[in-house]
This record gives sequence, structure tokens and C-alpha cells, in this order.
Amino acid sequence: MSTAERPITAPPAPEAPLGVRRKLAALTVFHTGPGDVARAAGPVALLTFRPRWLIPPYAMVTSPQGARDVLGRADGAFDKQHIMHRQSQAFGRNVFNLPHDPWVGRRRLLQPLFTRRHVATFAGHMAESADTLTAEWIDRGVVDLDEQTRRLTLRVIGRSVFGLDLGERAEQLGPHVHVLLGWLTARAQRPVRAPGRLPTPARHRMRRALAAVRSVIDEAITAARADPDGDAELIQLLLQSADPDTGRPLTDEQIRDELLVFLIAGHDTTSTTLAYSLWALGRDPGLQDRLAGEVAALGGRRPSVDDLPALALTTRVIHESLRICPPAPVIVRSAVQDAVVGGYLIPAGTQVMVGVYAMHHDPALWADPDRFDPDRFATLRLAGDDRWRYLPFGGGPRSCIGDHFAMLEAALGLATIIGTARIDALDDEFPIALPFTLTAGGPVRARISRR
Ligand code: HEM
Repeated sequence: MSTAERPITAPPAPEAPLGVRRKLAALTVFHTGPGDVARAAGPVALLTFRPRWLIPPYAMVTSPQGARDVLGRADGAFDKQHIMHRQSQAFGRNVFNLPHDPWVGRRRLLQPLFTRRHVATFAGHMAESADTLTAEWIDRGVVDLDEQTRRLTLRVIGRSVFGLDLGERAEQLGPHVHVLLGWLTARAQRPVRAPGRLPTPARHRMRRALAAVRSVIDEAITAARADPDGDAELIQLLLQSADPDTGRPLTDEQIRDELLVFLIAGHDTTSTTLAYSLWALGRDPGLQDRLAGEVAALGGRRPSVDDLPALALTTRVIHESLRICPPAPVIVRSAVQDAVVGGYLIPAGTQVMVGVYAMHHDPALWADPDRFDPDRFATLRLAGDDRWRYLPFGGGPRSCIGDHFAMLEAALGLATIIGTARIDALDDEFPIALPFTLTAGGPVRARISRR
């Protein structure tokens, strides 16, 4: 008898002791919702609604073991069939939203471009773009760190993945991506939705934004075709690949749909991490001076990939930002078969939310969890099962393909900026919003001066 056929014996997970309103809030207020509500309810808690056909049952998972049981499965038992994944297919099918079976080959195809060794070839763009923007910020005096780090990460992804110099167009592209993510979140979080094809104003705005983003990607595909030796490695790889179903080359539409996710996933997340790191350093001059000292010890040259081992504090600051402000605060899956999670039976059909933010802020897992303290990562070794309490890039087979890219970009970006500029954060709070990923919900103002 295979594992899948063996009857599963485990107690059912307890229902979260909440009224309907608070249960619905837990579904929509993704970041603090599962944090505050779920921790009180237990490591695995159910949220069920009536009538059942209208809203499927949900399970909130907030323990490292539960996270491993869901995300660590390599057999697709917890698949990407959540409403959010299905809605995101309005932008095309790609490695992010494909269900398990067609995803396997796609991930295998793309993986070699995102190894630690390979992403090092993109490093030049990262430090160079950060250098150019920092000089501009110093001239301006006061900047919005949220807006400016988005410009930076869009430029980097444009150069390194698309082979395009987006220049000032990065400013226009950012808001379009925001519209797409806002539309996706609004639809995914609403328990009852208007039919997908209804011509609502929101759908109209989404289609306009999608057309604008796609036209930039189409331009990159045309340019890559014309210049096979250019920078656009990811596009070249896709141009040379075959569709596993037909054996024929991927169509331009398939390539465009794949690239779209790299544009979206590859900039919004890293920009939040950089904005949060700069804001946190801008509130702690002592820590900022220590980091500047680390960069100065490199001898005044622009930080490069070879300097990473010497940038230990810089890396810790990024790890701590990702802990406090994880751009993916909740990871969702659908149980496609009965399974045991954290010792409880989760029936097939349950929508599972792994509370990354909740675990990153759990006082049982972290000392003084709301304090920004990068030095906690100096001695911490997140190995074995313990690593499931820290999941900024997810875990298991569908963890972030861009994790090395993002860490390299953030570390070189941060070191380059702090090496040149002094940051003075003007706001006491970092405003959090959740248009799909967790981002700044308003301007993050800072005074920038030459160091
Ligand atoms: C700080 C930056 C980033 C964070 C925090 C982050 C976080 C995540 C997380 C948590 C997942 C897993 C989602 C899930 O299991 O449902 C994910 C998946 C993914 N990320 Fe990232 N990401 C970041 C940067 C990037 C970059 C730079 C790229 C591309 C250049 C990228 C591309 C992707 C893709 C394609 C997936 C889907 C992988 C798959 O399903 O096989 N991400 N990311």
C-alpha cells in the first residue's frame, strides 16, 4: 500500500475560537491576522464557514513543524491551487502559479540561471545601479525610500534578467505592477467575487496595466532575438526551450507569461527589504556607522560579489529585515489529499495558510521578536528542523528561485548606498500594506547626505 493510500489517523485540527467576523478578518488581514489570531488559536487552527460551498475551509499553520509538513512535501500534496494562484493565471501561467506536474519541468529548466554561482554574473548591475541612484538621492536631499528602492530593483531586474536599460521607464512600470498586485489581492481575498469577465472598472485598470507591462516584455523578447549574445540570458534560455507537451519551441506568449513573474516577483519583494533595511538603519545611527565601517574596510572601491564574506553585518541587517518584515508574510497552498500537519489531520480541499509573519514574530521562537537586532543572526545557526521557523524565501521544493539573486542584490545595494550616503529616517513607523506582498503602505521619508 502506498503512502497516499494508507488511511491517515490523526485528530482533526481545532477550530479557531473566533466569531465569523474575526475569522473573515483573519483571511484578509494576512500579516497581523494570522499572527495575532492564529498563535492564540494554536499551531494549527481551522477556520470554517457556512455555507461550505461558498467559502472552503481554511487552516492557519504557525508552527515550524506544521510549515515543514506543508511546504516540505515534494509530491504536490499541498499544491498551488489556491484562489490566489488561479486568479494570478489571468496574467499568464508561469513557474510561480503552475500546478505541481507541469511546474516540475519548468523549474528544472530555469533553476541553473539562479544558482548562487550564476547570479554572481549579475552583480555588476546591482552595485552600479545603486551607485547611480545614491548620487541622485544626495542631490535631492529628501527622498521616499519606498519609491526609490523600487526604481533601483526595477532597474536591476531590467538589466540583469531582461537585458533592458529601463532608465526612467522604471518609474512608470512600478505603478502598473502595483495595479496588477492590488487587483490580484483584492480578488483573492474576497470570499465572493464578481465573475472574472465582468467589465468592472477594476478589471479595466488591471487590463490596461497588464498591457503596459507586457509591451515592455515584448520589447525585451524582440531585442533578445535580434541580439543572441546580449545580456538577456533568461530570455535566451526560454527562446531555446521546447514546450514539454508539444515538443515545439515555446511561443512568444508563453515566454512573455513566464517573464512577467520575474518582473513582478523580482522587484517588489527586494525593494521592500532594501527600504526596510535603510529605514531601520536610518533610525539607528550607531548601527548605521558600524555598517559604514564594514564597507569602508573594503578600501573605498565599489562592493563586489567577492566582498560578500567581509560584509557580514550587512547580510545580518538584511536577514533581520526579512524576519521583521517578510515580503511574503503568508504562503498559501491547497490540500489536494488528506494529510497530517503538525500532528493534526487536514482534509483534502482545505486551503492552508502558513503564517510566516506569525512565526517570525512569535516570542516562543525569537527573543524580543519585535526588536530590530541584526546581531541575533551572528550566532544563530538555522539548521535542520529549526530552519522552518525562518522562512522569508519559503521552504521546500517551491521555495523562492530568486533567493540568491535577492540576497546578493540587497547586500551589494545596501553596502553601496551606506558606503556613500548617510540616511536619516524621518518617520517613526514603517507603514505596512499588503497588496499581495507585504510592502510599504506610504512614503518612507529619509534625509540623505554624503557620508
Ligand atoms: C527579498 C526578495 C524576495 C523574497 C522575500 C521572495 C520570497 C518568495 C517566497 C516566499 C516564495 C515562495 C512562494 C510560495 O511558496 O508560494 C517565492 C517564490 C518565487 N520567487 Fe521569490 N522572493 C524574493 C525575490 C525574488 C527574485 C529576485 C526573483 C526573481 C528574479 C523571485 C522569483 C520567484 C519565483 C519565480 C517564485 C516561484 C518559485 C516556484 O514556485 O518554483 N523572487 N519568493
